[in-house]
Amino acid sequence: MTALEALERLPRLNLRGFVSPVQLLERFSEAIGVEVWCKRDDMGTVGLAGNKVRKLEVELAHAVASGATHLVAEGSRLSNATRAVAAASAVLGLKCTLLLCHDEPHEPVGNLMLDGLFGADLRFVGNVTWLELAEHAQKVVSDLEQTGERVYRLPIGCASELSCLGFALAYGELRNQMRELGRTDGTVIHASSSGGTHAGLVLGNALHGFESEIRGIVVAENVYPDVAGTYLSFARGGASLIGADVELTREHINISEAYLGEGYGLPASGVYEAIDLLATKEGLLVDPVYSGKAVAAIIDLAKKNELKGPVVFWHTGGYHALFDPRYAKRIWAEIGRLSKIVL
Ligand SMILES: Cc1ncc(COP(=O)(O)O)c(C=O)c1O
Repeated sequence: MTALEALERLPRLNLRGFVSPVQLLERFSEAIGVEVWCKRDDMGTVGLAGNKVRKLEVELAHAVASGATHLVAEGSRLSNATRAVAAASAVLGLKCTLLLCHDEPHEPVGNLMLDGLFGADLRFVGNVTWLELAEHAQKVVSDLEQTGERVYRLPIGCASELSCLGFALAYGELRNQMRELGRTDGTVIHASSSGGTHAGLVLGNALHGFESEIRGIVVAENVYPDVAGTYLSFARGGASLIGADVELTREHINISEAYLGEGYGLPASGVYEAIDLLATKEGLLVDPVYSGKAVAAIIDLAKKNELKGPVVFWHTGGYHALFDPRYAKRIWAEIGRLSKIVL
């Protein structure tokens, strides 16, 4: 069996329910002067939309097969990953505990409200580092196991060697879709933090002979002591799980921190322009924490003439943050709608 066959045969759940389409962003492309397509992984139900669904389809197939009764996941209160885990646990009839690295908020907004609606037990552990958060999570796992639960713990961002295979598969899906449309996928650009998306796309690209360029736009600072090295280890680990004989080196990890701005969840130049342009030209939503920074990168690179089409913007989702008043008010003010209404 070839590695691609092993990848195709990987046990996985169908959590999204459909194959996400690829669409040409015609009016956006015209505005920035580069042909841009969009892989619509933002689509799905409110709970099961975005890039985490790909990872969970693989990771949770394994969890279910190993008899898990309880999922434990960790993240920030803005986390799309924990929200998707909460939604998936409801779909699968599993219990769910989430550890969130914030103080208990005054208002339940955005993903946080959804985490609760999907029935997850929410634990707020204060403003801690990713490492400390992981220690808290491990303690919760031990406590739950002592009560007889069979716990399956998902790492931050649901990033792992196994889950990145969901994105290696996704790369092949995009490649076939673009070919059917008579185009190649050229450069693929996506928002990146915990690294599973990038690692999986890079591995998928490697399995198909490195025909495309995969670029990750980093949206969170210092996620690991060695960011590129950790991404690479996911990709290599994923490759060995399917017996793939591919040579992956640091050079294949193509990530940029140029659009991180002030940091995770904080302003960065070009993000409001990106939200506005995509919304008004395509009726498509991106958020200021994740996907908005990837679109800001596409616009900036196009302005500098550093991007040749066709480009695929891999929409990793995250529109839920738009319903967090902290972001909603800022976006409303920044794009000038507020003054129009007051007048
Ligand atoms: C909307 C969105 N885009 C992109 C990412 C980054 O993906 P990854 O964690 O696989 O790097 C995340 C992760 O939280 C996300 O929620």
